[in-house]
Amino acid sequence: MGYRVAVVGATGNVGREMLNILEEVNFPVDKIHAIASRKSIGVEVAFGEKIIKCEDVEQFDFSKVDLVLMSVSGAFSKEWSPKIGAAGPIVIDNSSAWRMDPDVPLIVPEVNPDDVSYAHKKNIIANPNCSTAQLVVALKPLHDRAKIKRAVVATYQSVSGAGKDGMDELFNQTRAVFVADPIETKKFTKRIAFNVIPHIDVFMEDGYTKEEWKVLAETKKMLDPKIKVTCTAVRVPVFIGHSESVNIEFENEITADQARDILREAPGCLVIDKHENGGYITPYESAGEDATYISRIREDATVENGLNLWVVSDNLRKGAALNAIQIAELLVNRGLIKPRKQAA
Ligand SMILES: NC(=O)c1ccc[n+]([C@@H]2O[C@H](COP(=O)([O-])OP(=O)(O)OC[C@H]3O[C@@H](n4cnc5c(N)ncnc54)[C@H](OP(=O)(O)O)[C@@H]3O)[C@@H](O)[C@H]2O)c1
Repeated sequence: MGYRVAVVGATGNVGREMLNILEEVNFPVDKIHAIASRKSIGVEVAFGEKIIKCEDVEQFDFSKVDLVLMSVSGAFSKEWSPKIGAAGPIVIDNSSAWRMDPDVPLIVPEVNPDDVSYAHKKNIIANPNCSTAQLVVALKPLHDRAKIKRAVVATYQSVSGAGKDGMDELFNQTRAVFVADPIETKKFTKRIAFNVIPHIDVFMEDGYTKEEWKVLAETKKMLDPKIKVTCTAVRVPVFIGHSESVNIEFENEITADQARDILREAPGCLVIDKHENGGYITPYESAGEDATYISRIREDATVENGLNLWVVSDNLRKGAALNAIQIAELLVNRGLIKPRKQAA
């Protein structure tokens, strides 16, 4: 017996990837619903070999499903997730709306799977920010071994992290450069084609951006509140795949060789780290893959017990859709969702 699953935001970058991955991992689906806004009623999306038609969120009866994978905006989730959770199903939400709510677990299954135990408080589970997800997958095994004191992170985030409009903007601007058309800037604050922008999400009072704040706040919630994290988040003209340069200071001694061995055994991590041309992973190669890739592992001689890493992953998969479905699998494996009997 399988589950009745609704994907809300099914026409979006993350929603489409969710449908792909549910099929790829053979998630036990009895019935699948693709949900989006009214303007998308009848729009066709792929679920494996099948084509399904989108339904309108306003008209949908959420009490008839067991699990909702949601990937819309934070404002939408603030309004809809509590209503849906109250109707019965568990909502796994990709937006930033619930991540820091103490009654909502924020989960990366390789890092803090046991937090799923309080998912029923609100029937909402939060998926982390895309940059945080891959970061904590890499940090967790190193923290377990040598205790991280401080991490300094610089992100190189692809345009798909800003939704399908972000991808369209990079494509259109790149084309415009080649045909000498005027460059239109709508989604990003400056031109993104052949450029980088040190600004993602809104500015906060202290001069950091909300995206930078998310990386530190979410890392503390999932991994350890004592870890100090600072971040500079940068948008780069890459379609899919986020990269991170990470400098870590540990409490205890750890060499680059030891870190390499630990990460080789760690769940979700794949070490590609040869000291030769091309002996590392770039975001282009991570697209469509599940792993968090770790390359360029080096000791930092400027601090005691310091390491530098290069961490790359597909932001639409581990940073969003894959992580959400791994959470759903965790719920199933721990018996925390049960398929409800179909109405006769
Ligand atoms: N992209 C990433 O790497 C990533 C990673 C982690 C988290 N997230 C988060 O995931 C969420 C979705 O991101 P995305 O990249 O998939 O965005 P996207 O490509 O812009 O897709 C947005 C989806 O939301 C739907 N939607 C918008 N307004 C709606 C409404 N009023 N009612 C019902 N559906 C509505 C859209 O449906 P229509 O087509 O009908 O408008 C579309 O399916 C965001 O909160 C984002 O921050 C994204």
